[in-house]
Amino acid sequence: MSREVILEIQNLKKHFGGLKAVNDVSFKLFKGETLALIGPNGAGKTTLFNTICGVYKPTGGKVFYEGKEIQGLKAHEIARIGIVRTFQIAHPFRDITVLDNVVLALGLDDYKGLSRIFKLSHKKKNVDRAMELLEKVGIREQWNKKAGELSLGYMKRLGIARSLALNPGILMLDEPCAGLSFDATRAFMKLIEDLQKGGTSIIIIEHDMHVTMGVSERVVVLNYGEKIAEGNPYEVQRNPQVIEAYIGKEDESA
Ligand SMILES: Nc1ncnc2c1ncn2[C@@H]1O[C@H](COP(=O)(O)OP(=O)(O)O)[C@@H](O)[C@H]1O
Ligand SMILES: [Mg+2]
Repeated sequence: MSREVILEIQNLKKHFGGLKAVNDVSFKLFKGETLALIGPNGAGKTTLFNTICGVYKPTGGKVFYEGKEIQGLKAHEIARIGIVRTFQIAHPFRDITVLDNVVLALGLDDYKGLSRIFKLSHKKKNVDRAMELLEKVGIREQWNKKAGELSLGYMKRLGIARSLALNPGILMLDEPCAGLSFDATRAFMKLIEDLQKGGTSIIIIEHDMHVTMGVSERVVVLNYGEKIAEGNPYEVQRNPQVIEAYIGKEDESA
């Protein structure tokens, strides 16, 4: 059975002057798949995310989302068509409640211009949907707390709830477990598994190899802006080039 491709990256490049931060990277993401993007510090992972989601204009190459070319679109246009990077809206408004943060994000879903971004609409439909999303990410009981009072782990869950409010086709997570305790990381992995069961397509950058190997079906490895390996977590972990570039470096510094 061939799987449906939701995102295809073709020879994507992002150069900063002479620095080839992302160079000729190609890969596909299948619908419902979780793909991990790994590589040592400075490998170009975040730049690749920024180039896919329109924060940066690519120096070259193409991005297809559901078969349509989207490179060159602006970040908010790309978010609206369904590629949502949590960081874009992960920083909650700290002085309003958890619920209101999600209601605001629901408002973003149908915004037609900047002026409508801050429209808080407490229609029953929006409140119900927001509570559903809080339930989904496991922070329903915190609905009436100020977002600024949440722990980091809960704050990140709120970020996911706000991202899900945009009905993403693809969720892009840049090191979602950074700074989380062991327990919060485990809980976050469980949340990712729940999203997978719900059919969400995910690209995740994560330093924690345990998380990467635990949640992803496939792994793409970057080094100096180039893709050096791609495969299932088992294959990739045993790839000599990857060990050299990434795992080897970690061992040296341990
Ligand atoms: N806006 C920028 N301007 C110039 N160089 C950048 C910029 N963003 C990232 N870089 C450089 O691009 C390379 C890749 O960085 P980054 O994508 O952040 O790596 P990673 O996320 O894999 O750690 C690094 O050498 C970094 O210094
Ligand atoms: Mg990064």
